[in-house]
Amino acid sequence: MFGFGAMIQKLKENPKTIVLTEGEDPRILEAASRLLASNFLTPILLGDEEEVAKAAEDAGYNIRGALVINPKNYERLQEVIEAFYEIRKEKGMTMEKAEKMMLQRNYFGTMLVKMGIADCLLGGATYSTADTVRPALQIIKTKPHNSIVSSCFILVRPGATGENEVLAMADCAINIQPSEDELVEICGETINCARIFGVDPKVAFLSYSTLGSGKGDSVDKMRNAAQKAKEEFPDVPIDGEFQFDTAVSPRVARQKAPDSKVAGYANTFIFPDINAGNLGYKIAQRMGNFEAYGPILLGLNAQINDLSRGCNALEVYSMAIITAALT
Ligand SMILES: CC(C)(COP(=O)(O)OP(=O)(O)OC[C@H]1O[C@@H](n2cnc3c(N)ncnc32)[C@H](O)[C@@H]1OP(=O)(O)O)[C@@H](O)C(=O)NCCC(=O)NCCS
Repeated sequence: MFGFGAMIQKLKENPKTIVLTEGEDPRILEAASRLLASNFLTPILLGDEEEVAKAAEDAGYNIRGALVINPKNYERLQEVIEAFYEIRKEKGMTMEKAEKMMLQRNYFGTMLVKMGIADCLLGGATYSTADTVRPALQIIKTKPHNSIVSSCFILVRPGATGENEVLAMADCAINIQPSEDELVEICGETINCARIFGVDPKVAFLSYSTLGSGKGDSVDKMRNAAQKAKEEFPDVPIDGEFQFDTAVSPRVARQKAPDSKVAGYANTFIFPDINAGNLGYKIAQRMGNFEAYGPILLGLNAQINDLSRGCNALEVYSMAIITAALT
């Protein structure tokens, strides 16, 4: 796997704990048993203790040493409920509602991170992205200098020369219709994330138009956002608006954007909206043989990440390492 050596090394120097909200799921149990066999990342499994133990035994995974927490009998439950109520009381939260919500593992697990009982969280193997993200937005919240939480995918494919080809794509999972300024913020966060994965970012703002060849509000949005991003991140090659072929094909780039240093060689892609982004990364994954890691949430005060419901145990294991290493 690409770049995982460095992440694991970082975790060995500074081991972390990660909440896995779906403790009885066989994919989670397999990943947890692998993590427990090493000692750089300790899983906290949420679920009924007996059911988790039985599911692990039935599936043949050794999870000895894992901390299993059932929110219902957690000894600090009252403290968790009160802390959650305090965070949300100005948003109409009542103690009665807080008690109920703390029995939902996505909310309870997020509170464990908020209270410093765990370092980070991974969930969503059996529930939607929105149900992973909403508690994070409400409890963990956006970093002080950010205005939004966004996300990116890291795409990896073995290259012809033996080196991995690594790309970053954003925002494919959170912001449905980002504004110009939000796209600039997404660009900055994605540049940082791409660098962590060893990418030297060359950023293309994507559109159905290349440098004014097409017209429309979303074309203007991408052109203006690219211009603002160039001004905000002058040390990074950024350009657009570009069609995808201009962004990645040197031949097309020579015709359509001959003066651009990014065109033809882009490796970091900013999409105009979630429709384009979500379809784009899935096309690369399903038809371009890229492994897709993400969505990696960007701009939160702590790392909370979402699994795809179609994920396998290896993806859970990889995302757990990524989540903890970014913490
Ligand atoms: C992220 C998402 C779930 C938020 O939706 P929501 O919960 O209905 O959002 P709301 O407008 O009710 O906001 C809930 C809270 O989150 C905050 N919030 C919403 N979007 C946010 C963002 N992008 N960044 C930071 N905070 C955000 C709101 O300010 C609000 O906070 P508050 O309750 O403290 O005031 C929604 O944007 C979404 O569904 N995105 C697409 C997810 C998806 O389906 N992805 C595709 C699959 S990968």
